[in-house]
Amino acid sequence: MVPETENLQQFIAKCAEVVDSKLDKLVPTADIEPIALHRAIRHSLFAGGKRFRPAFVFAVGNVFGVSNDKLINVAAAIEMIHTYSLIHDDLPSMDDDDLRRGRETCHKKFGEATAILAGDALQNMAFQAIVDDVGLSAETRIRLVSIIADASGTPFGMVAGQQEDLTAEGQEITIEQLEQIHRAKTGSMIRVSAQSGAIIGDAGDVEFEAITDFAENLGLLFQITDDLLDVTQSTKTLGKTAGKDISASKATYPAVYGIAESQNMAEKVHEKACRELARINKPTQLLRDVADFILHREK
Ligand code: IPE
Ligand code: IPE
Ligand code: MG
Ligand code: MG
Ligand code: MG
Repeated sequence: MVPETENLQQFIAKCAEVVDSKLDKLVPTADIEPIALHRAIRHSLFAGGKRFRPAFVFAVGNVFGVSNDKLINVAAAIEMIHTYSLIHDDLPSMDDDDLRRGRETCHKKFGEATAILAGDALQNMAFQAIVDDVGLSAETRIRLVSIIADASGTPFGMVAGQQEDLTAEGQEITIEQLEQIHRAKTGSMIRVSAQSGAIIGDAGDVEFEAITDFAENLGLLFQITDDLLDVTQSTKTLGKTAGKDISASKATYPAVYGIAESQNMAEKVHEKACRELARINKPTQLLRDVADFILHREK
């Protein structure tokens, strides 16, 4: 069934507007020295990313009745970490990509050293945006910094997953390993987006666990659909080089299972995610729409 994503798409567009204006304030302007660094950061940050992770922070926060002003800094911070991960992911020593978000990759335009530093700076600014958020209690800020550091780092977070992804290139791996790579490199940042909204929303233990399980499955789903889009979509639609995973011998769902079976698996993970919503004693249609959006996304 084709979901009613139009409202959700409007929701994401509104979140993107709010988050872009916050990011613009958080990041040094391009006329401040070192100019090359700040231009590089802005080149990658303001290139038209989907802003899915900030929208997910807002969606979960809304379900728990939190106002946007309490969510905006952490939403922007997560987008900064995500953008840093993309800049580094594209480096010649990693996925070696020329195109990102419809533009030249950061290292292509500004050189490798500046691209590495742009990623480093985005990561630091992200944590600062949370620590400096006086709208949240000190305790909440500490909890957010701790789980986001965990989700973006190692041994279970994004950086660990990126290492495993590179190690798995050209290797035969088990389905368990493939799933673990996807959960770590992509799932963990998506999971922590939802958890952040729930923490700021003061979710109780049961609801926090349900949000976590829901979002962990959505995180896995997001990378399965990313793998599928790499083989089914055009470079123009994606704004990044299509067909790249095959040429780089990446461990992906379509490489291991083929397209049709990967699509089946995506549907199963989506269903599993949505089942968790029953444990949340609040209207969760918005979160179901988010899940449908990820399953059916075309870029
Ligand atoms: C791409 O993420 C990298 C993955 C973790 C799969 P997105 O598909 O969210 O990329 P942007 O932010 O919209 O550019
Ligand atoms: C990237 O996975 C995951 C990150 C943590 C950035 P991919 O390497 O598949 O992402 P794309 O396809 O280049 O966006
Ligand atoms: Mg990669
Ligand atoms: Mg890549
Ligand atoms: Mg990919």
